[in-house]
Amino acid sequence: MSNIHPYVGRANTRVDGPLKVSGLAKYSAEFGAEDLAYAAAVPSAVAKGRITALDVSAALAAPGVIEVLSHKNRIDFPEDDEPFKNDMVAVPGSPFRPFRDDKIHYAGQAIALVVADTHENARYAATLVKATYDVETPNVDVATSANYYDPPEKRDGIPPPPDPRGDAKGAFDRAPIKVESDYRVVAEHHNPMELQATTVIWEGDGRLLVHNKTQGVVNPKNYICSVFGLDEDKVRFFSPYVGGAFGMALRPHYDVFLAVMASLKLERSVRLVLTRAQMFTMGWRPDCLQTLSLGAETSGKLTSITHHAIQATSMFEDYQEPIVNWSGLLYDCDNVSLKYELGKVDTSTPSDMRAPGATTGVFALECAMDELSYAAGVDPIELRLLNYSDHDQNDDKPFSSKELKAAYEQGAERFGWSKRSFEPRSMKEGHELIGYGMATGCWEAMTMPHKARATLTADGKLEVACATADIGTGTYTILAQIGADALGVDIAEVTSKVGDTSLPMAPVEGGSWAAASAGSAVKLACEALKEELLKHARGLDNSPLANASLDLVTFSNGRIALKADLAKAVSVADVLKSAGVEKLDGEAGYAPDEEFTKKYAGYTHGACFVEVRVDEELGVIRLVRIVSAIAAGKILNPLTARSQILGGVVMGCGMALHEETKWDKTLGRVMNANLGEYHVPAHADIPEVDVIFVDEEDGSNPLGIKGLGEIGIVGAAAAVANAVFHATGKRVRELPITIDKLL
Ligand code: MOS
Repeated sequence: MSNIHPYVGRANTRVDGPLKVSGLAKYSAEFGAEDLAYAAAVPSAVAKGRITALDVSAALAAPGVIEVLSHKNRIDFPEDDEPFKNDMVAVPGSPFRPFRDDKIHYAGQAIALVVADTHENARYAATLVKATYDVETPNVDVATSANYYDPPEKRDGIPPPPDPRGDAKGAFDRAPIKVESDYRVVAEHHNPMELQATTVIWEGDGRLLVHNKTQGVVNPKNYICSVFGLDEDKVRFFSPYVGGAFGMALRPHYDVFLAVMASLKLERSVRLVLTRAQMFTMGWRPDCLQTLSLGAETSGKLTSITHHAIQATSMFEDYQEPIVNWSGLLYDCDNVSLKYELGKVDTSTPSDMRAPGATTGVFALECAMDELSYAAGVDPIELRLLNYSDHDQNDDKPFSSKELKAAYEQGAERFGWSKRSFEPRSMKEGHELIGYGMATGCWEAMTMPHKARATLTADGKLEVACATADIGTGTYTILAQIGADALGVDIAEVTSKVGDTSLPMAPVEGGSWAAASAGSAVKLACEALKEELLKHARGLDNSPLANASLDLVTFSNGRIALKADLAKAVSVADVLKSAGVEKLDGEAGYAPDEEFTKKYAGYTHGACFVEVRVDEELGVIRLVRIVSAIAAGKILNPLTARSQILGGVVMGCGMALHEETKWDKTLGRVMNANLGEYHVPAHADIPEVDVIFVDEEDGSNPLGIKGLGEIGIVGAAAAVANAVFHATGKRVRELPITIDKLL
């Protein structure tokens, strides 16, 4: 087979694709053991109060039941918060811990764990656990939360809103054009295909092999060892495949906590798979109230931006995703005032969900910009160009790169934006009103320290390894592409390994940083391996490479050759043979370039264009086509990259038109905790999505890439809402935009 270097930059189908479609890729609930017991979590029927009695006798007497655990007979764990904060995604406050005591913090909270010989027996016996409660009245609505507050302690690594600049109020008062609106983004729950699940394999002598659905094995391992006081050398987390996550599986959840507890208590292997309904007891984008005021000159040039957001959090933790910060960044404006508050509700702690903060805040900002375009009589793209920001005003730094203008231009061209007539309700075909809407997106381009290892064996096979995760985004594939190019081997000869704590350290896969960080670490590990190979090659008897340095040689097809004279070469197999080894390793660590980060602001940008058709009489909204133009540095693999944007856009469409977690406000319970009533977009809801990657050169990491996991969703819901307004003349400021709100 001939090589097609470089692989990086080319479409390559997923290297893990065949394993996934043939069912050979094993997910956390698919690992087993001879002594495997099956657990089921019993949910609290009330949202607030305390358990006054827990009767587990019927459950214990049910067929196959081995044990029922609860706060009454749990194993010991520390009382203080600190061990539970050994979670790199923890937020300020007091972390939740299952079975701590008799207190109920939210509906569906696990109050007992039934362990049985089969999954079915455990599920059945779980229905027999009888609890009585002292019930308090819950409040699950941020709009009626007791008081709003500025988070006293800031979340690690998440910048709080910047100080005000200029005089936003004065400028607003003086502005000839004013737009002021309230927006509401409702709660959404993560609903990945794979349920939250853990299989703990009891290996004897206190050794645990844990398969846990997670976006990064190192984090839950640290957490579990910390809270249960386990020896890190005796615990291995191994979760090679993840069936969707995007923030859902960043923090360790109660499945891993309870499964490990049961395994330790029973000294046997235990599996706990949460139900779909239990997925609504964790992992959600918080409900948020927003007010946005824009003041502008008659030209549409912004003179004032005020953005105030109030976001839900739990009673026990101050979850934060500063929703307003984007309003100080996206457009050029000298008078900006941003305020971000929390409101406590009786629910589980909210979590990151694809572009947390930006998805919510940019929705409001981009709808407000659309409102301004009509108020000023300026085309929405013209308005954005007029207010284009060429440096980050929040941090007063230039951007490392920003090809947003090209994204507007190429997106508009592909979409046919010029055919749009300005007035709302001015385009129509048959009984359908036609709307064209657009919005800008923006997300951070971050990297994190990662380590990696590259190993070459005498048969010419390369393994690249890093403890990061592939949540379905294509990490396996891009790491293989990078490795194949570095060593000059065919990609079929490369194996990527991720999702295992025995591999070189990585943090969680989140924040769109994995490709740039793990990718850079793999590239550096390959360089280290090449050094190692060359060192041995130089030492061979009569080596033609005796005086060669790394920059003078090339690696290709199992040979190391002088670039200047390809005939002067040695084979990798000979190198390993004379070194007397089966394989050679290179290890390296990547860390963000702090000087660079200090100097430049790193962001990805996008422009999303949407056409909707709205039935004038029925109010039915039909998405017709979407163009998403993205500026995100170098694209490693256009195929997996396109899928990232596609997924983000689809989630944005769900946010705009379908998804909403509905709580019963009296009982505090989620009423639509299933995929029938919590509607995530189906194929029939989504039209053709055209993805454009504009050229962008970026120097923030060795690969020049920025990450793509999140940018696709930012602005997508606003583009839909703006299209709906253009079609109907009706501005819906509370998501999702359902028929009842249009009629
Ligand atoms: Mo992302 S919300 O950091 O998975």
